[in-house]
Amino acid sequence: MEYALITGASSGIGFELANIMAEKGHNLILVARREAALLDLKTHLEKSYQVMVDVVTMDLSKPGQAQALYQHCANHQLTVNCLINNAGYGDYGKFDLSKLEIYQNMLQLNIMALTELTALFLDEMKKRKSGRILNVGSTAAFQPGPNFAVYAASKAYVMQFTEALNFELRGTGVRVTLLTPGVTKTGFVSRANMSAAANTKSGVMAAKTVALAGYKAMMEGKLNTIPGWKNQILALGSKTMPSRELLLQITGRILRDTREPQKKLENAA
Ligand SMILES: NC(=O)c1ccc[n+]([C@@H]2O[C@H](COP(=O)([O-])OP(=O)(O)OC[C@H]3O[C@@H](n4cnc5c(N)ncnc54)[C@H](OP(=O)(O)O)[C@@H]3O)[C@@H](O)[C@H]2O)c1
Repeated sequence: MEYALITGASSGIGFELANIMAEKGHNLILVARREAALLDLKTHLEKSYQVMVDVVTMDLSKPGQAQALYQHCANHQLTVNCLINNAGYGDYGKFDLSKLEIYQNMLQLNIMALTELTALFLDEMKKRKSGRILNVGSTAAFQPGPNFAVYAASKAYVMQFTEALNFELRGTGVRVTLLTPGVTKTGFVSRANMSAAANTKSGVMAAKTVALAGYKAMMEGKLNTIPGWKNQILALGSKTMPSRELLLQITGRILRDTREPQKKLENAA
């Protein structure tokens, strides 16, 4: 039986993807740490859409868990034809004011788990000559992120990795797509402690809109999708900025802590 596996399905974009995909008739494997939220979702989806839903409660930031998840699917003969690497989080604030353990944990989830799951499930998709992978990046990937340095860099990895893989896989029947959300109304802002960040004050998108854009792009086998015209302008602006210093100054403003006094645009010294 074929399944779509969604990491981070207990809330936000992953939760909305689960609803959209169940409505379209996909059987689902839902993965996250909060078991009660996943079980509630399973009950709702099975009842509403007559699909099969498997729940795996797992902390994907722990080394070895991607392999354990793959093994779980193999043991239960769950064929994964869609893999959605959505689980991820950020940590807002100056780099040296947070803990190294948080960065290690974040990189393990945002980068390592995503890469390992892609490698593990891709092999069988290639043998079957069919499959879809959706990796959730961020508009933070387009430029360095002052006050968000590690998170932005982790999403730059997701972007570069996904787009390169998309090119490598052309002609194999497997397509890899990048979903690039900007600020979206989910649990993300509170987990990242970033409610004071200037970029969270306006232009926040609904998780359902973002999830739908990602689902459509994945099913069409597109290279990438950036939901929302404001996010598309941001992407274009980052690409066409005449200097890295100017890009950094503008991003520093966009990501500034609104509790701190505003700095004037600084010249590179
Ligand atoms: N919201 C935004 O503004 C925004 C913008 C750009 C990109 N994104 C990206 O969108 C993706 C989804 O985030 P979201 O906005 O929907 O935030 P969210 O509501 O906080 O959802 C994150 C999901 O990831 C799961 N998760 C977190 N840590 C995990 C772990 N260690 N192991 C397994 N699952 C874990 C969470 O479930 P549990 O807590 O139950 O484990 C939750 O289901 C992330 O990759 C994020 O970087 C979000």
